Amino acid sequence: MTDIDIIPESEEMQAYSDQLRADGKTIAFVPTMGYLHEGHLSLLREGRKRADSLVLSIFVNPTQFGPNEDLDAYPQDMDRDLELARKEGVDTVFTPIKESLYGREYQTYVSLEKLPMHLCGKSRPEHFRGVATIVTKLFNIVKPHIAIFGEKDFQQLAVIRQMTKDLNFDINIVGWPTIREPDGLAMSSRNTYLTPEQRPSALSLYKALQNAEKLVKTGEKNAEKIITITKESILSNPGTNIDYVEINDPETLDTVTSIKGPVLMALAVKVGKTRLIDNMVLKP
Ligand code: PAF
Repeated sequence: MTDIDIIPESEEMQAYSDQLRADGKTIAFVPTMGYLHEGHLSLLREGRKRADSLVLSIFVNPTQFGPNEDLDAYPQDMDRDLELARKEGVDTVFTPIKESLYGREYQTYVSLEKLPMHLCGKSRPEHFRGVATIVTKLFNIVKPHIAIFGEKDFQQLAVIRQMTKDLNFDINIVGWPTIREPDGLAMSSRNTYLTPEQRPSALSLYKALQNAEKLVKTGEKNAEKIITITKESILSNPGTNIDYVEINDPETLDTVTSIKGPVLMALAVKVGKTRLIDNMVLKP
């Protein structure tokens, strides 16, 4: 197991990255909000392979949570995260505190015009502004050559790709496939909120996506029909409450009515109080 540098200060992190770059080393970066699971670890493993130095950040970013969301309850376990990071060969963990990234005079935000108008952005209006802002700040602090994000947060990945292009960040953005529990539930730090009784209802998201995939593969082109079937199958499970079920263009995230090429099917469903998301690209 390698030893690990823990850096809480932005200036120190910047100086560290400057030194790596001056030494001709490449930097891979995996930004997270901690409470690491197998999905994060798969991003770290990929980062380890792709660069000389691997940086992980752990920061529960307050600006991406709405007023009635789970910011205060968001699960955290720094000791366990550091242990896992060590095992994955992470070189450096950036662990800023809220006050250092958002001081009292803080007033600058990054917002995109179109992508956040879809999917999660409809019920979480400030969310992607918070994500784009913190990721911009982290990019400027960590100065990576490559940054890796999970495809489970498909809209987040689309936002970050767009922002990277629009703001001319010289960073290679890599999307990495969703890692699932053995029963198919997409890995998420929020799965920890689920009770054993809620588990079958949580699994209904993946089952509904698999069914939609089958429908599209066997020639169904009517998006509205697939959405209706999907909603019915999810709602037949106790404690489920649908935020959205949509079929969209995988790049623009605009709604698709007739399926002619690959489409994104994206779901957000509350199971009890836990909001789960999942998605799949369906190919006719
Ligand atoms: O996906 C996450 O964990 C967060 O949204 C991110 C990218 C670390 C920004 O806070």
